[in-house]
Amino acid sequence: MPYAAFRSIGAYVPQKILTNEDLSKMVDTSDEWITKRTGIKERHIAAEDEFTSDLGVKAAQKAIERSGIALEDIDMVVCATISPDYFCMPSTATIISTKLGIKNVTAFDISAACTGFVYALAIAKAFIESGMKKNVLIVGAEKLSAITDYTDRGTCILFGDGAGAAIISATQDKEEAIIDVHTGADGEYADLLMTPNGGSGSVHDSLDTEARSCFMQMKGNETFKVAVRTLTKDVKDILQHNNIKSEDIKHFVPHQANYRIIKAVGDALKMTPEQVVLTVHKYGNTSGASIPMAINDLYESGELEAGEMMLLDAFGGGLTWGSALVPFAPLK
Ligand code: COA
Repeated sequence: MPYAAFRSIGAYVPQKILTNEDLSKMVDTSDEWITKRTGIKERHIAAEDEFTSDLGVKAAQKAIERSGIALEDIDMVVCATISPDYFCMPSTATIISTKLGIKNVTAFDISAACTGFVYALAIAKAFIESGMKKNVLIVGAEKLSAITDYTDRGTCILFGDGAGAAIISATQDKEEAIIDVHTGADGEYADLLMTPNGGSGSVHDSLDTEARSCFMQMKGNETFKVAVRTLTKDVKDILQHNNIKSEDIKHFVPHQANYRIIKAVGDALKMTPEQVVLTVHKYGNTSGASIPMAINDLYESGELEAGEMMLLDAFGGGLTWGSALVPFAPLK
């Protein structure tokens, strides 16, 4: 049976930066409040003519180049996004594949909100281990600014745009194998984080007058509590299940939603500050893109070493959650 190896990482952030100071001119908030409650200082915002697929393509180009795998050998593209280029079709993954010049490919999007990258990783692992695919490009790409209500201070301070991508490939070497990926969901909490309008559950006549209900809405405080509880349990479970201790993890890469959530989970797991990867201050919450963007930061700062064990952990709308134990396994 082939194993699935995490070969490479890439990411892209759009140029424009939206600071807390900028936001304080748009809604009733302040740099002090945002920094204290979330740890976020700034986030990047895509240009009007820059689509989610464009962000994804730029991240993917880096991941492909760094993987040493030829474009024509990529046989599947999965894009995790809640801000696709087009609402129903075509999928952003098909657009990304075509813009990259990848032919003869299976391509589709998945919707698991901020847990999207972990879900995509699980899908890539399963397709590779079953022998159906050999080289899978997984992309987390978000233009959240397109679905953010910039009159709602409870949400607009949190979100940013960006993309991250990784190549997952078949290997016969067990040492390189992604060890485990856990995924979970509970629709009982669906109303904590949602875009209520625009889907088949909404009255389409109301779109003009209630355009804002196509934007993200969130019960922040409740989400916060469920996030800390779920993330901590999920990580404890995956570590225990695989007989791995916190100290065996070189880098813990949690979804970057809020510094206080990350700190609470890190402390509960007895992770040292050196283990916990933090990028929320400069990118905000980029949903499905946040974990690969954080891994890419590690890579570009020279801190991600071949063979090291990463622990990924995410939580998002749905509700969904997931974690993964992933050795970094670039081609030798
Ligand atoms: N600036 C200033 N004040 C704000 C504000 C802002 N941007 N947003 C909310 N407030 C106010 C509220 O109106 C409230 O005022 P009140 O006490 O007078 O009623 C007060 O601050 C506290 O609001 P609350 O919602 O309890 O704050 P909080 O400490 O929970 O922080 C979030 C709000 C959104 C930062 C926090 O709940 C959070 O991060 N939640 C999780 C979000 C998340 O991770 N979502 C994505 C999951 S993937």
